[in-house]
Amino acid sequence: MADLDDLREGNNFGLGVATQQQGFHVKGAANLSWGMKDRLSRIFNPATGKAVMLAFDHGFIMGPTSGLERIDLTIVPLIEYADCIMCTRGILQSAVPTDVNKPICLRSDAGTSILTELNDNVVIDIDDAIRMNVSAMAVMLAVGDPAFEAKTIANLYATVDKASRYNIPVMGITAVGKQMARDARYFGLASRICAENGANIVKTYYCDGFKKVVAACPVPVVIAGGKKLPEKEALELCYNAINEGAAGVDMGRNVFQSENPVAMIQAVHAVVHKGLTPDQGFELFQDLSK
Ligand code: R5P
Repeated sequence: MADLDDLREGNNFGLGVATQQQGFHVKGAANLSWGMKDRLSRIFNPATGKAVMLAFDHGFIMGPTSGLERIDLTIVPLIEYADCIMCTRGILQSAVPTDVNKPICLRSDAGTSILTELNDNVVIDIDDAIRMNVSAMAVMLAVGDPAFEAKTIANLYATVDKASRYNIPVMGITAVGKQMARDARYFGLASRICAENGANIVKTYYCDGFKKVVAACPVPVVIAGGKKLPEKEALELCYNAINEGAAGVDMGRNVFQSENPVAMIQAVHAVVHKGLTPDQGFELFQDLSK
């Protein structure tokens, strides 16, 4: 019980001043509840509305691919520069220090490896995501894949059902099958299907006509980086995506396979949050690499 001595009557009620109504900086999230918004705000910086997510979930399908052989040596030093980290539960629990204090976007589906075609797809138990205190769960959608479209859409749907009970946002990842065109029509379709099925964030690829992909997607779109590019081209990709409406990047190889990953993630951050041009971003990369 608080000390009742000197209990002061309230006298500053702002009478005549309308209650402040807060807008919300994440697209499509204004009607969500407090817990959802809190988690989304941990990912998307309220000052810029953008996010730099560092993706290093590749091992779940590729094993110890270049740059991910030793998470402790190559990835942990990058985490402080990321707004959010995206990885599997195995790597999170075994290699990410518990005191990094960054929101986690948990890779929540699995079911294949690079040695075979997509052969099944399962999602992790919501209890495990809660135990790891994640800020988002990510699952992949294979739109247009005759064998796995229905299975992966059902997985997204089930994940949203479970995650939304606990106010955990879900990110839908648009996988691109070998036979799919990497164009705005395909990415627009796949992104919209993610959102229609309840995804709160969509991860897709940048393409010609990207503005239309973003415009028709009612939730934030972040881009994957894709295969390793020369640093300046990767920064150009970030710049173009942000300029055409992306809410951020969820980038892996173009950061951790860079000749200087610590410099690269800082350059990406500056392009995403400060609007640096690709030239300015590359100059920053070079300066930080000296
Ligand atoms: C997506 O399914 C992958 O697991 C990666 O998270 C994604 O492709 C982003 O990484 P990268 O920038 O290397 O393409």
